[in-house]
Amino acid sequence: LPTRCSVFIACSIDGYIARKDGTIDWLTAPGAAENEDYGYHEFMRSVDAVVIGRGSYQFVQSLGSWPYGERRVFVLSSKYPRQGQPLPHSATGISSSPPELSDLMKELGLVRAYIDGGRTIQSFLECGLIDDLTITRVPILLGSGIPLFGEMKDELPLRHVETRSFPNGLVQSRYERTSRT
Ligand SMILES: NC(=O)c1ccc[n+]([C@@H]2O[C@H](COP(=O)([O-])OP(=O)(O)OC[C@H]3O[C@@H](n4cnc5c(N)ncnc54)[C@H](OP(=O)(O)O)[C@@H]3O)[C@@H](O)[C@H]2O)c1
Repeated sequence: LPTRCSVFIACSIDGYIARKDGTIDWLTAPGAAENEDYGYHEFMRSVDAVVIGRGSYQFVQSLGSWPYGERRVFVLSSKYPRQGQPLPHSATGISSSPPELSDLMKELGLVRAYIDGGRTIQSFLECGLIDDLTITRVPILLGSGIPLFGEMKDELPLRHVETRSFPNGLVQSRYERTSRT
């Protein structure tokens, strides 16, 4: 079976995942319950691989703690070799197209991959490789920033699975692709 590729991301109402300078403090909307994680840990438990772009990797490094545990992590950048290069925390830096990486993950027997980072998500979408998306809208209009979505050659019809809203105004919707093209 191909590795299932999933998006789990928060964005502003106008579809930005960070300000232009990369800051995401607006994600923690006021009034959030302290023990509420919006399904993040349940989602993380379901993935055995993570694919992030260099932009998100730099952000993760700035956190000072590694959020991916023992999962296989692939960091995409044109500065890495095609065959991959070891990074700290057993991550792999790799220059690869989404289809090539998808094939590699399948060969490695990985079941479900968390695809993260704006450009990375867009490139997997463009290649028709995203199987499901969980998008959490934060009640703010940023006006500008790093966009979640970009232009695509082909339209992608999705099936709405579930929407839930949280007392602090976050609205989370889950979508699945209707079929693999
Ligand atoms: N709101 C949220 O939940 C959330 C989640 C994740 C990230 N973020 C934020 O989003 C920002 C990062 O987003 P980003 O748009 O910069 O994206 P990104 O996908 O994390 O990084 C983009 C970089 O990935 C590399 N890359 C290599 N191969 C690629 C491929 N096939 N497709 C796409 N990219 C490839 C490129 O690096 P090279 O230029 O080196 O080739 C590209 O510049 C960070 O500020 C982070 O904090 C927010």
